[in-house]
Amino acid sequence: MTFRRHCIKEAAEQVIKLKQHLPVQTLGCRTDRCGTTIRRDKIMWGMIATWRMAAEGVEKGAHMLAEGQNAGDAIETAIREVEDFPYYKSVGYGGLPNEEMEVELDAAYMDGDTLDIGAVAAVKDYANPVSIARRLSREKVNSMLVGEGAEKFAHKEGFERKNMLTDRAKAHYRNRVKEQRELELKPYSGHDTVGMVCLDSAGKVTAATSTSGLFMKKKGRVGDSPIAGSGFYADSKVGGASATGLGEDLMKGCISYEIVRLMKEGMHPQEACETAVNRLDAELKARRGEAGDLSLIAMNKDGEWGVATNIEGFSFAVVTEEKETQVYLVERQEDGHCTYAPASEEWMEEYMRTRMAPVVEK
Ligand code: GLY
Repeated sequence: MTFRRHCIKEAAEQVIKLKQHLPVQTLGCRTDRCGTTIRRDKIMWGMIATWRMAAEGVEKGAHMLAEGQNAGDAIETAIREVEDFPYYKSVGYGGLPNEEMEVELDAAYMDGDTLDIGAVAAVKDYANPVSIARRLSREKVNSMLVGEGAEKFAHKEGFERKNMLTDRAKAHYRNRVKEQRELELKPYSGHDTVGMVCLDSAGKVTAATSTSGLFMKKKGRVGDSPIAGSGFYADSKVGGASATGLGEDLMKGCISYEIVRLMKEGMHPQEACETAVNRLDAELKARRGEAGDLSLIAMNKDGEWGVATNIEGFSFAVVTEEKETQVYLVERQEDGHCTYAPASEEWMEEYMRTRMAPVVEK
């Protein structure tokens, strides 16, 4: 099947889903269009995440959810998998440094049952910022810490210290410095944050993020990823959303909260994502002449999901109790509608090949 035919098929499936969707009245019950209450013994579990890089983590999380483990443990495990992989340049170990050649990491965790939030920003030399964020989410106060304060907390709590700056990242840094000097290129690029939403079979929704932020950012710069409502939001009564893209612009729309709010008003996650992304994109262009990259994923409390983007080349990974882990590529139509199709094997191979190719110093 061609990419376009896949898109049309997926879009048609989404339209059917949208038409069928009505708000769930009570936990484990759903009302169909005729008003009949359909009882479900068990809530469907699921997980959705930004970018292809999340696929292995999502797969791991899915095994845990299938065994009945909770959405907190599953999402933390899934994000850690991405943080630990040295070939992803924008998350955890191997993440690209700031302009002073330091890897400063941002991460967050939110529990949709209690609305507890934990976050760290500009943290250095710790292996898994998402775990520090989750630990902070259990604190009543001081639940968002930055820089040295976050590192002090992590040390006291016994988190693993690690030099997160790899030789590969140093080579990228040196190349970029040369490019800036010789080609007058803009210094900032790369913001492939991993953001996830997870739903477990008890109905708990969680959201989490992890990123090294913009390559060549100023020391101390913080993007949307650790900011509740912008980079992530989760409410087990509704669902969750998470963002990737240019933090400075994503924050202007508190876009993850906006998507959850739209889902609460009754929108299907696909409609909520498209509405929020298209509105913010249009607003930014009207007021400022341009909009940065905005890409969002969402899942509601029934395991239905959606995505939207204003860029070319956005990918995401999703799994539900009913459907195996799959990576999709998103295509934005001229009218702002987003369709998606499964990534081909060739695309998956090429992705890994380019990520793992040697970095040649210029
Ligand atoms: N979205 C990640 C960042 O801007 O840092």
